[in-house]
Amino acid sequence: MHNNLDTLFNHLWDNYIQVTPSANKVHKLLGEGNTLINDHVAFRTFNIEKVNLEKLAAHFLALGYEEKGQYDFEQKKLKAKHYEHPDTTKPKVFISELLVEAFSESVQEIIHNMVAQVPEGATEQDNFLYSGALWSVTTEEYETLLAESEYAAWMSAWGYRANHFTVSVNYLDHYAELSQVNAALKVAGFTLNTSGGEIKGGQDVFLAQSSTMADKVEVQFKDAKKEIPSCFYEFAQRYTLPNGELYTGFVAASADKIFESTNVAA
Ligand code: NI
Repeated sequence: MHNNLDTLFNHLWDNYIQVTPSANKVHKLLGEGNTLINDHVAFRTFNIEKVNLEKLAAHFLALGYEEKGQYDFEQKKLKAKHYEHPDTTKPKVFISELLVEAFSESVQEIIHNMVAQVPEGATEQDNFLYSGALWSVTTEEYETLLAESEYAAWMSAWGYRANHFTVSVNYLDHYAELSQVNAALKVAGFTLNTSGGEIKGGQDVFLAQSSTMADKVEVQFKDAKKEIPSCFYEFAQRYTLPNGELYTGFVAASADKIFESTNVAA
């Protein structure tokens, strides 16, 4: 495991932009050459013990993060936890895991075959969180997963990497509101996720979020190449609680819609 948080995030970012070409463009548009503060970085996995949420979280707990919240996504058959670092300028970490036993026998079999291909000890390696797909599936297996769970299909192609980074609108110099960020993104030609509206949440739940739709990148499957959604960029504006502190949690109803940023766009 990494012993330096910035090194870990630098590796995660480099790995993320390799399959998310629009991320660099977003970064330039909003950052105008300055460093951007990330609100959070998100990861996906399966609830199979060999690779479960806790295996990913261990990398962050070792770097001083603490567990702060738990979330259930019944319809998508997921659960998630979020972690925070004592230094509030460090990104929060949001990790979800798919409840594999909730799916059909055929989907469960494909996922168990994938996880069986993960080398023993891989989850403890420095590079685990950006090691990609530690398995290989056919395009037919990908389609079988996709029919029941976009999340499972995404994992089969992309594996362990940042699913998205999230710009903190609170720390942007030239934008006061998320709606202004969205307007600038649209003028620049980016496609936003409109599931549940362009802005999910708002001041009433102390967190407003929006996101781009994932880039599309060609992936080499076991039998053929196929162009599929990769990763996306999210934007978050946090509001002050009655106690005067910024809200630091997540809103399940909003996150539920953010997951759909890796859907194949109509
Ligand atoms: Ni997010």
